[in-house]
Amino acid sequence: MRGLHTLSAMLLARSVGTLATENPVSPRAAAAATFNNPVIWEDHPDLDVFRVGDVFYYSSSTFAYSPGAPVLRSYDLVNWEAVSHSVPELNFGAKYNLNGSGSGYVKGIWASSLRYRPSTDTFHWMGCVESGKTYIWTAPGNGAAQKRGEVSEWTWTNHPPINTCYYDCGILVDDDKDETMYVAYGNPNIRVAQLSKDGLTQVKTQQVYTSSETIEGSRMYKINGTYYILVTRPAYAEYVLKSTSGPFGPYTMKTLVSRINGPLANAGFSHQGGIVNTPDNKWYYVAFMDSYPSGRIPVVAPLTWTADGWPQLVADGSGGWGKSYPIPVQTNKTVASPIGVSTDEFKGTQLSHEWEWNHNPDKTKFRLVEGSGLVLQTADVTTDLFAARNTLTHRIIGPKSTGTFRIDVSKMGDGDRAGMVLFRDRSAYIGVHKDGSTSTVVTVNALTMSEGSWTTTAKGTVAAKGPTVSGGDIWLRIQADITPAFGMTQERTATFSYSTDGKTFTALGPAFAMTNSWTYFTGYRYGVFNFATKALGGEVAVRSFSMQLV
Ligand SMILES: *[C@@H]1O[C@H](CO)[C@@H](O)[C@H](O)[C@H]1NC(C)=O
Ligand SMILES: *[C@@H]1O[C@H](CO)[C@@H](O)[C@H](O)[C@H]1NC(C)=O
Ligand SMILES: *[C@@H]1O[C@H](CO)[C@@H](O)[C@H](O)[C@H]1NC(C)=O
Repeated sequence: MRGLHTLSAMLLARSVGTLATENPVSPRAAAAATFNNPVIWEDHPDLDVFRVGDVFYYSSSTFAYSPGAPVLRSYDLVNWEAVSHSVPELNFGAKYNLNGSGSGYVKGIWASSLRYRPSTDTFHWMGCVESGKTYIWTAPGNGAAQKRGEVSEWTWTNHPPINTCYYDCGILVDDDKDETMYVAYGNPNIRVAQLSKDGLTQVKTQQVYTSSETIEGSRMYKINGTYYILVTRPAYAEYVLKSTSGPFGPYTMKTLVSRINGPLANAGFSHQGGIVNTPDNKWYYVAFMDSYPSGRIPVVAPLTWTADGWPQLVADGSGGWGKSYPIPVQTNKTVASPIGVSTDEFKGTQLSHEWEWNHNPDKTKFRLVEGSGLVLQTADVTTDLFAARNTLTHRIIGPKSTGTFRIDVSKMGDGDRAGMVLFRDRSAYIGVHKDGSTSTVVTVNALTMSEGSWTTTAKGTVAAKGPTVSGGDIWLRIQADITPAFGMTQERTATFSYSTDGKTFTALGPAFAMTNSWTYFTGYRYGVFNFATKALGGEVAVRSFSMQLV
């Protein structure tokens, strides 16, 4: 249960302004003496956390969604906002454009890593994407180290990939004179690569730990002169490798957590992720839970250290991962636009970093228009939503929420399909089908991709027909219950409704059961789409999106 105090804190934080401020009258710091897990009830998997000054940064994986590898920031490890994407365009091959060279569903960005290097004032992102290659993007920090971690503007540049797959990589920027960069990676054996002075090429790589069981998800740290690599035993444990002899080991191993209960039921075991300290050197472990159908959502717990340098989790009274702990940092600095409950009217010149397209979009087919919102022209002629470009997606906040798009459908063309989709490998939507000159509100379910090959096996069945609409605005709403049900046979459901005045909503069609399977990795998302089945030329204007907990 996301605490009410957390929610009100987010809403208060929202009113503070667009930049983080030292606000002397903010009541948030005083109000929130504890926090509740999960800290973000949204799918932000394979996380890497680190801190620059007063700012915690959080990088996560996004598969074929574009832009990829979102960057979140926080001042307290609890309230987060999306500020950038490390990979503005998936430059991993033609299939990520979804225009004739296949699709990248369930490929793309897996566990990757983001760190800041003070001496060069540069953020480095790395990820092994296609087998054999590790992609690199960097962004200048614009003086982040001098500004207590603040970054005024993010500009990402890609570099030639390294021709070695740093599988599930974790970057370490050493605190030695040169700030040497290392990357820990591999499965099941763990290797450490040393990078060149600019951090862009490999100098050497060496196996540092031999494992008889599957371990992966490396995160590398140097703490008080000792090197650590945290690895996960998927999907139930986190191990710590420790070396007092340098980055290349030898490393000895101890278990940090294994099959630890809580903080959520039916969400697997807290594991993977990474550790980070506060400005006053209190340490925390940020893991994730397999919270399907929601995806993988982060949970935080404090750490203590043994005299000989092993981290230990602070469990709750029954030995589990606590639902609640004291807030890591009491601060008056707040994040401006918190993750989750929000309304977006698509103002300005760019989409906010809460949005990701299903693949690289066709940039010639969408634009933000003052007074209209997000205009989506049909980008493909297809009868397959999974093959259509420019479906724009948004993570679903849990445990239960509604998402509502307000869409002007007056410029749809004959044969066009537009609407709001509950997007995953088993999808359903509520939308408008225009055939001839008649636009009909429909719900469509059973849009399905085959598990494993991720190709379309069913393009959907009209489950219910609503009224015809004569153009103008329609509000489309999906209410999704993403309460964890991982490993259960019971499936959570979503329901569909529409409105022509934004006030009175009418249910349409049967509830849709969401799959709890993990194999697609990414959880369900709300999305908006517009594709043509006959000819290009039609468009819709997406005026707003709002998401509310229910
Ligand atoms: C590292 O060294 C500092 C200073 O001696 C000490 O306060 C701290 O507890 C040590 N351990 C960690 C994990 O920071
Ligand atoms: C927040 O601001 C109030 C009012 O100025 C101050 O009393 C308090 O110490 C501040 N808290 C922190 C953690 O900085
Ligand atoms: C596919 O899309 C990309 C990016 O929009 C574009 O550069 C490329 O030319 C397109 N390829 C085809 C075959 O249309």
